[in-house]
Formats: sequence, C-alpha cells, structure tokens
Amino acid sequence: MHNDIKEILITQEEIAAKCKELGEQLTKEYEGRFPLAIGVLKGALPFMSDVLREVQTHLEMDFMDVSSYGGTNMKSSGEVKILKDLNTKVEGRDLLIIEDIIDSGLTLRYLVDLFKYRKAKSITIVTLLDKPSGRTAQIKADLVGFEVPDEFVVGYGLDYDEKYRNLPYIGVLKPEVYGGEE
Ligand code: XMP
Ligand code: MG
Repeated sequence: MHNDIKEILITQEEIAAKCKELGEQLTKEYEGRFPLAIGVLKGALPFMSDVLREVQTHLEMDFMDVSSYGGTNMKSSGEVKILKDLNTKVEGRDLLIIEDIIDSGLTLRYLVDLFKYRKAKSITIVTLLDKPSGRTAQIKADLVGFEVPDEFVVGYGLDYDEKYRNLPYIGVLKPEVYGGEE
C-alpha cells in the first residue's frame, strides 16, 4: 500500500496537531451549546473521529452519505445523490458539517442548501483539506485544516477506487497506479 505513494503531503503528526488546533476553536465556538456534527461519509470518518475528540463540549453525531464521484472516476459528475440521509432533525439546530476535502464544492453547496431548506439554525463547515483550484460552486469552509495543490490525494479517509482510506497520512499516488501521466 505505502509503495503506491509518490509523496507524502501531510504527515500523521501534522494531522494530529491540526485536529487539536481545530478542536480548540470548535470548543470555543460551541461552548454551552449542543451542535449536531454531521460527518460526510465515507471520507470524513477518520477526521471526524480525531477532531471531535478534541472538542471539549457536548455534541451529537450523525452521518450523511452522498456521492458526486462514481467508481474510479476522479472528477466530480456535477450531480449529487443522497445515499444515506440523516437520522436527526436539523430544524433549529446548530450544524457542524465535517468534510474530508472541498474540491469543486458541489457536494457542500448541495448540503448547505439542503440544510437551509430544512431550517437549520446555523451551519458551520470544517474541512480537513481545501483544494481551491478545483472550485466550481460558490462555497467556503469556515475552518480549513490544510490547502492542497491541484493533485489527486489519498489517505486518512480519502480513497482511490475505495483503497487507501486507512493510510494514516495524506499522500499523492504514483501516476502508474491509476494509469495517469505525470
Ligand atoms: P466536491 O468536488 O464536491 O468533492 O467538492 C467532494 C468530494 O470529492 C472527493 N474528492 C477527492 N477524493 N482525492 C480523493 O480521494 C481527491 O483529491 C479528491 N477531491 C475530491 C471527496 O470524497 C470529497 O468529499
Ligand atoms: Mg467525501
């Protein structure tokens, strides 16, 4: 698995330090409130788990699974489908959406519009990675862990063809792994 990685962009230690930092900011933001943390499956799973354990206030967790990428396709289809909806009502709630990466922004644009329609009280977005070069939808995260260059990244929740999610760091695949060119 590690042999397929061309370069490590963000180490395990850097991610852990960032989760601590973001957790402190979220603790301040949500002191005395009871936000609903919404993890976007499956990519946000490791980040959600690590960052929320750094938050020192009560919160509720739920998950949403949406897809805008299909199969081994590395570009957004522009279409967002709900594969699993929340089990919790969002009306009147303070929402914290947790994402692995914002690329085109289509996924988050869709979710924010959906939660506004469902009458959320407030919506805060925290994303581990931001790839501003990929943006087509108008959306901005409130909290960003790291900016990444215009490269397909894997690890720490992010997959290529459902693999590499369990890498403890964020890396770039060797082009031969996906048959791409340098
Ligand atoms: P959009 O384009 O809607 O994308 O902001 C959000 C989702 O697309 C996936 N994505 C990636 N997955 N490496 C990945 O493994 C990447 O470089 C990448 N860019 C986007 C991801 O699932 C994200 O939630
Ligand atoms: Mg995702």
